Amino acid sequence: MKKIVLAYSGGLDTSCAIKWLKDKGFEVVCFIADLGQDEDFQKIEERALAGGASKVYVKDLKDEFIKDFIIPAIKANAVYEGKYLLATALGRPLIAKYLVEVAHKEKAEYVGHGCTGKGNDQVRLEVTTGILDPKLKIIAPLREWEFKSREEEIDYALKHNIPIDVTKKKVYSLDRNLWGISIEAGILENLDQEPPEDAYIMTKSPNSASTYPKYVEISFEKGVPKKVDGKAYGLKEMIFMLNEIGGAYGVGRSDMVENRLVGIKSREIYEAPAGTILYTAHRELECLVLDRELAHFKEIISLKYAELIYYGLWYSQLKEALDGFINSTQEHVSGTIRLKLFKGACVAVGRQSPQSLYKKELATYGKEDKFDQKLAEGFIKIWGMPYKR
Ligand code: ARG
Repeated sequence: MKKIVLAYSGGLDTSCAIKWLKDKGFEVVCFIADLGQDEDFQKIEERALAGGASKVYVKDLKDEFIKDFIIPAIKANAVYEGKYLLATALGRPLIAKYLVEVAHKEKAEYVGHGCTGKGNDQVRLEVTTGILDPKLKIIAPLREWEFKSREEEIDYALKHNIPIDVTKKKVYSLDRNLWGISIEAGILENLDQEPPEDAYIMTKSPNSASTYPKYVEISFEKGVPKKVDGKAYGLKEMIFMLNEIGGAYGVGRSDMVENRLVGIKSREIYEAPAGTILYTAHRELECLVLDRELAHFKEIISLKYAELIYYGLWYSQLKEALDGFINSTQEHVSGTIRLKLFKGACVAVGRQSPQSLYKKELATYGKEDKFDQKLAEGFIKIWGMPYKR
């Protein structure tokens, strides 16, 4: 019998996919990745078995996700098109890595997933699978099957006793992990529509958030967040905590029309409270400790790095080479940034670092000024020389 390892979420699509694949003659092994999404994994596992899976793997990937994906993304200041902190995109190569691993363990020739044929996630999962094991065959039921709507899938599930817990109206399509949540479809497809409050999950509305600001201090060592308000935390604990704090102050929302890999523009909203806090603090610290040329060049690399993540090219040579550059830039990125969280905003209001390149005696307009202003005259003459005709 042909065997397939299916990336399973417990949702309607992948639940129907188990039955659909079995009808096509497959033995279906389900793989469930725990990336810190808010789920009852035991319930999902039971559902997979009740839905016809022969075996289920549940793997806690949170630590690996943070160590190998989130930390590099923080160091890189990776943001796609100015607004998206890439939570979904960062999770996909890791899921694919374990799909391949489980397929090897199970001696399965196939892997499968529940992505649609219009999105980026199919590309990320399949490109990664292809890089890690080009011999594995991939099946994407949603690209092939006959169902034309969610209602048809629900009817199919009911008819075949596939356990699901959805009603016929599901408002949005969601993808969540510890780095954030991606929310699309439904009313959000109307570009003129402000996202209704019920679309947001991790963050409180800035309108109803506290009228008093909250200050948090984030300390970094060589680009990695280590402390909050002077107290050391493991990054996993820190991220969960900052998701709560940021969420309570409405921090980390974004609303964008993005360019997908498959050539279309789509509207999606995101929430990433901890990501926004850590990204803002990290960037502010870099402003203090990186010299001008390095800082400017790194911005170009950040853009490229975010693109590679979005494009599903995590396991590419370019990404690895850029990691070499980015890691070397983090040598002096140690220090503490004080942030003010207030009604959705997250801004730096305090900065200190033993590696700081800021020299008050040079910057000051006060009487301690040590800047020799006479030197500027010669500098300007030579600097402007090439541009005179
Ligand atoms: N547009 C985002 C990306 O390509 C998120 C995709 C998944 N979104 C969702 N709501 N299911 O990374």
